[in-house]
Amino acid sequence: MKTIDVQTGRPYKIYIDRGIMNMAGSYIREVSDAIRAVIVSDSNVAPFYADRVAASLREYGFETSLFVFEAGEERKRLSVIEKMYEHFYEHNITRTDIVVALGGGVTGDMTGFAAATYLRGIDFVQIPTTLLSQVDSSVGGKTGVDLPSGKNLVGAFWQPVTVLIDPETLSTLPKKYMNDGMGEIIKYGCIKSPSLFEKLEKENAFDIIDDIIYECVCIKRDVVVNDERDRGERAILNFGHTFGHAIEKLGGYSSVSHGEAVALGSLLITGITENKGITEEGTTDRILSLLKKYDMPYKSEYTIHQILEATRGDKKSSGKGLNFIFLREIGTCFINRISFDKFVEFFG
Ligand SMILES: NC(=O)c1ccc[n+]([C@@H]2O[C@H](COP(=O)([O-])OP(=O)(O)OC[C@H]3O[C@@H](n4cnc5c(N)ncnc54)[C@H](O)[C@@H]3O)[C@@H](O)[C@H]2O)c1
Repeated sequence: MKTIDVQTGRPYKIYIDRGIMNMAGSYIREVSDAIRAVIVSDSNVAPFYADRVAASLREYGFETSLFVFEAGEERKRLSVIEKMYEHFYEHNITRTDIVVALGGGVTGDMTGFAAATYLRGIDFVQIPTTLLSQVDSSVGGKTGVDLPSGKNLVGAFWQPVTVLIDPETLSTLPKKYMNDGMGEIIKYGCIKSPSLFEKLEKENAFDIIDDIIYECVCIKRDVVVNDERDRGERAILNFGHTFGHAIEKLGGYSSVSHGEAVALGSLLITGITENKGITEEGTTDRILSLLKKYDMPYKSEYTIHQILEATRGDKKSSGKGLNFIFLREIGTCFINRISFDKFVEFFG
């Protein structure tokens, strides 16, 4: 069992352990006096795991109910949130009750948003079941939904009261979602940890996945506690994301997954900065080798001009430019602002 303290405005603990899901009730009772607990899950995850979480919650005196929505990013919408609120109302959820997000990033983001806003805020727990949600989205308190015009445009910062990470859930996760998580894991190595990056190079990450998850969560925790509201340093977590989002957008959000797009974005931006002498020589090759090793895409079908054009609508753009995250070398990065009128000059 590994425990990580997160000292945000509302401090909480993250636990990582195989089989912890079967004891969810015990951990949740430690942080909640609730009478009722709503488990929110999607149609793929609920059949595997909802019963055991509910059984454990009942063992610790919670009355449980289950809200299941159809799996998929397309369901990350206010219409589903409204149905969630109705479920909460019908099950007499009060301000002192609790909501349990059981699933990947879509479930966590939506449940967190519903918890942040129902009755002006009720407690929620994250039980992330994808690699991406275990290393990234369940930590940091960003919650939200998509609008037809773009991803994550509506949301709130709302920290969970605890996070229970059970790496055993990865045994049922389809491979393409493992790749998604791996994109973010490589990112953490690039921006903050040469030792994590070397570990990914030398060993098979999947053989030591519990340790890898722990290292990534520690990195994200450190960044988030310094900048909970995403006004400064937290931007470094977006390494590879600006080009990644553009690649996702150009592919109509279906040809490459988010994590694959982030990995491609990391490779692309580092190729450019290495050519300019900003990044240590050989860094791009090391990222490329990792992408190959973990069976991830490493060739973008779009030109740099198409990608640049697609970045202009990026949510992270402010005023007349965009912040890019550049590597000095593996493990060291910095934020660099480039105005739109300098795009062509900089990127060629
Ligand atoms: N809040 C944040 O800080 C943050 C950070 C990164 C990403 N995100 C968000 O996370 C979302 C992506 O997360 P995701 O990739 O986990 O997506 P997801 O929740 O859609 O899960 C991916 C797929 O795997 C299935 N699944 C989940 N766990 C499973 C398991 N153990 N066994 C079998 N199937 C399982 C789901 O049903 C779904 O089909 C995006 O909406 C993104 O915006 C949020």
